[in-house]
Amino acid sequence: MISVIGAGKVGATTAAFLMMGEADSKIVLVDIVEGLPQGEALDMNHAAAILGRSVSVTGSNNYEDIRGSDIVIITAGLARKPGMTREELAAKNSEIISGVADQVRKNAPNAIVIITTNPLDAMVTVLYNRLKFPRNRVIGFSGVLDSRRMAYNASRYIGISPSSIIPLVLGQHGENMYPVPELSSVYGKNLKNFLSEEQYSSVVKDTIDAGAQITNLRKFSSNWGPAAGLLVMVDAIKKDRKTVVEASVYLDGEYSTRGIFAQVPVVLGKEGAEKIVEVDLTQEQKEKFNKSIEAIKSNLKQVPSQYLG
Ligand code: APR
Repeated sequence: MISVIGAGKVGATTAAFLMMGEADSKIVLVDIVEGLPQGEALDMNHAAAILGRSVSVTGSNNYEDIRGSDIVIITAGLARKPGMTREELAAKNSEIISGVADQVRKNAPNAIVIITTNPLDAMVTVLYNRLKFPRNRVIGFSGVLDSRRMAYNASRYIGISPSSIIPLVLGQHGENMYPVPELSSVYGKNLKNFLSEEQYSSVVKDTIDAGAQITNLRKFSSNWGPAAGLLVMVDAIKKDRKTVVEASVYLDGEYSTRGIFAQVPVVLGKEGAEKIVEVDLTQEQKEKFNKSIEAIKSNLKQVPSQYLG
């Protein structure tokens, strides 16, 4: 059973992708807004009947309905509204995530938990502190999206499918992420070698700006990419595939970093984030990675201290 908390854009789209991918026969969608998850679930059950998917979707306002979940995906939270400072957003979402964490701890204590709520690196830290689950079971959704966006951006220049590119984006999920085309490859050939200097710069820039570009165009943030990425992650965990994807995980000495969530390549299997893949970085790359880590630390400063203890 998979539960999705938050039946907004990301949550509902994710539940629909999970249904279409038959990631599990039972999906539960929870929101605080009465009727919203129930209505989404009913519509999705009709879609499943049309597509012939053996999946039942349940909508609920009651956290007891997540009992028995082996994976919980948290998408609950506010998006930043005009006039709202980053600190205000971080405070509000910290409060929401702490409350959701308490419910997950109570009702699904053995679940692997993946979170999308932004600011991601800060919210996954709040979640981890509150849940007190082992680090392999608390995962920030980030890197599948950022790295595949980079693969997509590069593919348009080099005429090779994004799926044949192994992309690497490290560090923060946000404007200070560190895309690294020179450590990305097409079957062993360095991705950077396929790109002119100008193309290289625009691949990096478009990867960093991808989320903002979507929001500027349609006035709300991304949902299709996150839902697709979450399906890939859930599938890897449910089927114990040992797939390497990027995600924000708690670093405990890896990448010479301790006590910080940051995006790095991880092996996903039935235990969650089972292993961290440590890519060798040059001195210059280490400095760029550390700069991105500093941005995560400054995001954490926006979180009220009671959520970080
Ligand atoms: N429990 C359950 N649901 C909640 C709670 C709560 N405590 N608090 C808020 N929600 C719900 C809202 O009612 C809303 O339906 O979370 C949903 C959020 O949906 P949207 O506003 O549509 O936001 P969405 O685009 O889905 O993004 C959710 O994911 O990618 C990130 O930046 C994004 O932080 C944002 C999150």
